[in-house]
Amino acid sequence: MFFLNLDYLQAFHDPDKEIRILIHSATWVKFINDNSDIHMSDIMPNALIVYYSRSGATRTMAEEIGEALKKEGIDVAVQKVEDTKVSDLLGYDGIIMGSPTYYGTMAAELKKLIDDSVEIHGKLDGKVGAAFATAAVSGFETTVFSILEGMLIHGMIIQGNPAGDHYGAVAVGEGTFSDSEWSSNFAKRVADLIKRL
Ligand SMILES: Cc1cc2nc3c(=O)[nH]c(=O)nc-3n(C[C@H](O)[C@H](O)[C@H](O)COP(=O)(O)O)c2cc1C
Repeated sequence: MFFLNLDYLQAFHDPDKEIRILIHSATWVKFINDNSDIHMSDIMPNALIVYYSRSGATRTMAEEIGEALKKEGIDVAVQKVEDTKVSDLLGYDGIIMGSPTYYGTMAAELKKLIDDSVEIHGKLDGKVGAAFATAAVSGFETTVFSILEGMLIHGMIIQGNPAGDHYGAVAVGEGTFSDSEWSSNFAKRVADLIKRL
């Protein structure tokens, strides 16, 4: 109740914050009354991680990125591309896609989702996008970029990196992502952008 009263006082004195504060207050009222229909996902920024993985390396990376995003306060869903419908993409503030490198580009399964997303063309405009890729040897950067191209055409906003891997998270083989600087860096930078927008 202390929070509620303080919020209302601030709302009167700070019109710029009024909407945010009233939402915050309403959340507390519902919480206190213990009959809430509001879930954390209604008030937390969220992200969907969609990946394709045949032998597990990209799945491991997807799960690690998911855990790191949760630590940054993002409500995360991690899902296989085979289980993902185009309409799923609409429900998230951030969309992160991952693929193995197949001859220097993304797997056909992920490309199909991106091609099918023409159905919702224009509706992803302004959402945050990011990509990651695995490879046996190399080629992961062109894979990441092939995903980012589709995201940019949708009007999505991409966080680059001036220091670490510039375009997105990359790994050679399973397990190497955990050791790279990206494990601490990629998720934080993507999460910060999602929270800012
Ligand atoms: C059809 C096919 C094409 C591939 N092309 C490349 C390639 O161009 N460069 C490379 O380094 N690895 C290549 N690989 C290896 C995979 O990118 C690598 O093993 C990847 O980490 C597998 O991911 P997954 O375990 O999530 O399926 C290829 C594998 C397959 C099956």
